[in-house]
Amino acid sequence: MRKLLTLGLCCLLAASWWEHSPAMALRRVLVTGGNKGIGRALCQQLAADHGFYVFLGSRDAQRGKEAVESILLKSPECQDRLQFLPLDVASDTSVAKAAEMLREQYGAEALYGIVNNAGVGFQTSMAETLNINTYGPKRVCDHFLPLIDPQEGRIVNTASASGPNYNSAAASAERAMLTSPDVTWEELDACMQKAIQEPAGRQPYGFSKACLIAYTMILAREHPTLKINAMTPGYILTDITRGMGASKPPEEGTKAAIYCLTGELKGNGWYYGSDALRSPIDRYRAPGDPPYEGP
Ligand SMILES: NC(=O)c1ccc[n+]([C@@H]2O[C@H](COP(=O)([O-])OP(=O)(O)OC[C@H]3O[C@@H](n4cnc5c(N)ncnc54)[C@H](OP(=O)(O)O)[C@@H]3O)[C@@H](O)[C@H]2O)c1
Repeated sequence: MRKLLTLGLCCLLAASWWEHSPAMALRRVLVTGGNKGIGRALCQQLAADHGFYVFLGSRDAQRGKEAVESILLKSPECQDRLQFLPLDVASDTSVAKAAEMLREQYGAEALYGIVNNAGVGFQTSMAETLNINTYGPKRVCDHFLPLIDPQEGRIVNTASASGPNYNSAAASAERAMLTSPDVTWEELDACMQKAIQEPAGRQPYGFSKACLIAYTMILAREHPTLKINAMTPGYILTDITRGMGASKPPEEGTKAAIYCLTGELKGNGWYYGSDALRSPIDRYRAPGDPPYEGP
């Protein structure tokens, strides 16, 4: 019995050492929109509980620095693995500058992963919503992909159940395109540009997240050695959902993102529910329902 206990303790110590060893600390991850809400909670958990080096992206320097300070207040042990990175995902110049900063500081393969978390909610125009929620992640990937570890790297796109919900009610041709594993960027871009010209009849937020899921399939096809997936954090109380009945704190909205970053993933270009189980992209799957097993 004592031998078993000693063995168990050794395993625990080894796991803890490995998680916080220098090799693991080299796993650098960028979280966009990390200054509040789910993004900030994710930055805290990735640095404090999973030994990542975290670049906390924020479009506003003061909000970004304050977020770093608030995380360090709770988790002072993260002092050497948390860094504010100025990053406005809506701006090519800002994204290019941030990628160049990382390249200069850490060279090629600066990053293990990216979590495209930055997003806007329901009160925004079609053009702005798409520019931040869909073109934003593409902009970030275009500029940061050359810095990602080509064998182990991961990208996590923060979608929403609003995406599959949008698809379930979309016109059949649009639904077929948005849910096809063969969808191309040209088709998707043309559809988004048309929606910007003629926004009537589409709910911008759900449409932007359906497009983000489609973009995730395209990106995963183009980069088969990386692990690239989309997920939803669940229904979480943040500034996006304030007053809409959500009650779970941001700390409970990180499970799927952490799974997509660290889990033993079986597929690529998939969409995960907030319970970190695979979900379909043409209809809603509630947390706790059986996982999607289709193609
Ligand atoms: N809350 C939910 O129930 C829920 C459900 C499904 C999906 N999501 C998704 O989860 C992600 C995080 O949202 P949240 O709920 O945590 O909302 P939030 O508290 O409002 O956080 C949104 C974050 O995105 C940032 N952001 C917005 N536009 C940006 C830009 N152009 N460049 C860089 N950062 C930008 C915000 O920065 P500022 O402070 O500068 O505005 C903020 O840090 C979003 O993609 C959202 O769509 C949320």
